Amino acid sequence: MKRAVFITGIAGLLGSNIAYILRDRYRISGIDRNPIRIKDVNNRVGSVLDYDALRSMILQDRPDYLIHCAALVNLDRCEEVPDEAWELNYQLTKFLADLCGEIHCKMIFISSDAVFAGNVAGLNSETTAVAPISVYGKTKAAAEQEVLKDPRGLVVRTNIYGYNFRDKSSFGEWIKNTLESQLELNMFTDLWFSPILVNELTEILAMCMEQDVSGLYHICSTGSISKYDMAVEIQKVFGLLGTINKASMKHFAFKAPRTQNMGMDNTAIRERLGISIDTPEEGVVRFKKLWDEGYPKQLKKGGYDE
Ligand SMILES: NC(=O)c1ccc[n+]([C@@H]2O[C@H](COP(=O)([O-])OP(=O)(O)OC[C@H]3O[C@@H](n4cnc5c(N)ncnc54)[C@H](OP(=O)(O)O)[C@@H]3O)[C@@H](O)[C@H]2O)c1
Repeated sequence: MKRAVFITGIAGLLGSNIAYILRDRYRISGIDRNPIRIKDVNNRVGSVLDYDALRSMILQDRPDYLIHCAALVNLDRCEEVPDEAWELNYQLTKFLADLCGEIHCKMIFISSDAVFAGNVAGLNSETTAVAPISVYGKTKAAAEQEVLKDPRGLVVRTNIYGYNFRDKSSFGEWIKNTLESQLELNMFTDLWFSPILVNELTEILAMCMEQDVSGLYHICSTGSISKYDMAVEIQKVFGLLGTINKASMKHFAFKAPRTQNMGMDNTAIRERLGISIDTPEEGVVRFKKLWDEGYPKQLKKGGYDE
């Protein structure tokens, strides 16, 4: 009997890739306000904030694992509507953590590098002090604590890119599409992150489920890269024209304050699972390989012939 996985935000970048990639290995269901169609996946369209309906769905599906991806992910929007950000990113996570405790389901919460102030040298590790500077970061940091109250809970801090099921662009797709149109990009040379391709993250999450990994882990690329260098890497690997200008985040007026050094150390998860994880540069090569293999089109077909 396959084990069951329930995914909130199943039509999003991470949720849809998890559902598509793991659909043969697990019995997958989930919820999102956007429809998606993936073979053998039971997705309900609805709001995750309808707590009664969400509870009924989860009780009906009786998942062994709940992967919580739904969130208000736009940092600037979180500053504009902080109450909504706290409701979706914190209150909902607490509700799900309590429910998972009640039904003995392992909760996997997708958190963020935005929990750090980003002013330390080197990579942020799991022991680096959490000091969020944005509403988004504060809501995620508070939500992490609710999930970690259950010793079976897993909090995954990450930063992702990849191919979307829906017609929206992840960081990688946006760079690729803009340069394909030979347009100009201004990219920060002084903002570092540790982006991991959603496909690689999905396989690592599957290992975490199989090996019952609990606690707090950074699951991100090995090492960090500036946004500028990441864009240059995508341009090089895909062989694209277009212009990438160097820019500084210091000259940009964000609505939400940005963490300058979002780079994270993934040593703990590599050692726990005995695996290697791509560097940002290796991830881009894998991103291109997936493109060459027709993965984006296959994902959008969701396992159906047409
Ligand atoms: N993308 C990154 O680089 C990154 C970095 C660090 C952490 N994370 C975390 O990783 C997780 C997954 O990120 P992602 O990039 O996959 O995000 P995403 O593509 O925005 O996926 C989230 C999904 O949840 C849906 N959703 C939001 N509010 C909802 C509601 N009230 N009811 C039902 N569905 C709702 C969204 O719909 P709409 O699109 O209509 O809002 C979207 O389909 C998030 O928790 C995010 O905070 C992401």
